[in-house]
Amino acid sequence: MLQDTLQCSAGHFTLLRPGASHKQPLRAWDASDEYLIELVAKQHASSRVTLLNDQFGALAVALNEQVDCWVSDSYCASAALSLNLKENNKSALQQATPLASWSAEPSLGVMKLPKNLSYLHFLLQRCQQAQISTLLIAGMMKHLPKNILNFLQQFGSVQRHPFKKKATVYELQLQQVKPSPYPKLNRFADIELITHANVFGRDKLDPGADFFLQHVDALPQANSVADLCCGSGILGLKYAQINANCHLSFFDESIMAVESAQLSWQENRLNNPSSFHWNDGLGHQQDNHYDLILCNPPFHEQFTVGDHIAKRLFKDAKQSLKPGGQLVVVGNRHLSYHVTLKQYFQRVEQIASNGKFVLLCAHA
Ligand SMILES: C[S@@+](CC[C@H](N)C(=O)[O-])C[C@H]1O[C@@H](n2cnc3c(N)ncnc32)[C@H](O)[C@@H]1O
Repeated sequence: MLQDTLQCSAGHFTLLRPGASHKQPLRAWDASDEYLIELVAKQHASSRVTLLNDQFGALAVALNEQVDCWVSDSYCASAALSLNLKENNKSALQQATPLASWSAEPSLGVMKLPKNLSYLHFLLQRCQQAQISTLLIAGMMKHLPKNILNFLQQFGSVQRHPFKKKATVYELQLQQVKPSPYPKLNRFADIELITHANVFGRDKLDPGADFFLQHVDALPQANSVADLCCGSGILGLKYAQINANCHLSFFDESIMAVESAQLSWQENRLNNPSSFHWNDGLGHQQDNHYDLILCNPPFHEQFTVGDHIAKRLFKDAKQSLKPGGQLVVVGNRHLSYHVTLKQYFQRVEQIASNGKFVLLCAHA
């Protein structure tokens, strides 16, 4: 794993970013993390801090002594946090997910801007419940939603700090937070879906998932099935609906996704045995276990686009399949997943394709 040194007023820290390689030299922090660290040191040095959306633990390492609680939806972020705290001999922190309750001590909220505004709204509601009245919210210029200032002004008064190294920080004094509309109930392909605020797709059926569902009848009948990267669980739920006896296991690195899949499962009153896992991929727990794995893989990690996560997931899936088991993957044509899959599987065939998507079956 590649490591890099973050130099800031709080010290020099060695930071690792899981998944980075010489081919893909990704860093565990960006200029908006540096901005937050400097601002907290200059203006809030005596505040207790609640950290939200710290992507790989850079903020937790630099602000360690001030942090009361570290909040994230992401299993991978939590794993990176542990790695980087250990690497820098820093104390473990109290961790919470956005769905659990946090410490009720008043503190300063320090947040990396999430990608989706529904999730930001949900987090602001949770911040208010946790007695956080001031928030520093940082992002890179290229990642800022166009209407971010107007959006934040719905929740209180906002000051934008000047851009530095293409990063900025919004200082929000929380006043009124209207309740988030999530979780929401939708119905797609005869399946009831309950989605939390940070779940992929949320109120729309992903076109890739839609294409997968058009061919789900053609998949083999299997006993032990995993929905890898389940989101709200649409692929596994549909498969279970038409294959009443199989055991379905759902996996996602977002706790909101895993909870959504579980709520959706209950809502659809399916009787198959089932299990739900918050994990990075399949968690390397069960080699040679599954007959069939269904997957609509992510093609980005936070704001970084690429096939590095899909590669890791395919390798993981190969290990978890029984000999003769099958991994069924949907992807945009241009991602050339058949080439990637051939690195790990002996035989890869195309089940279906259209102008935009391919559905591939890889045989272990
Ligand atoms: C393209 S969405 C697919 C969601 C759903 N299966 C569908 O078809 O609508 C990809 C999902 O992968 C999850 N994900 C990303 N990285 C992951 C990882 N390392 N391990 C497990 N899940 C991951 C994301 O949280 C997201 O829910």
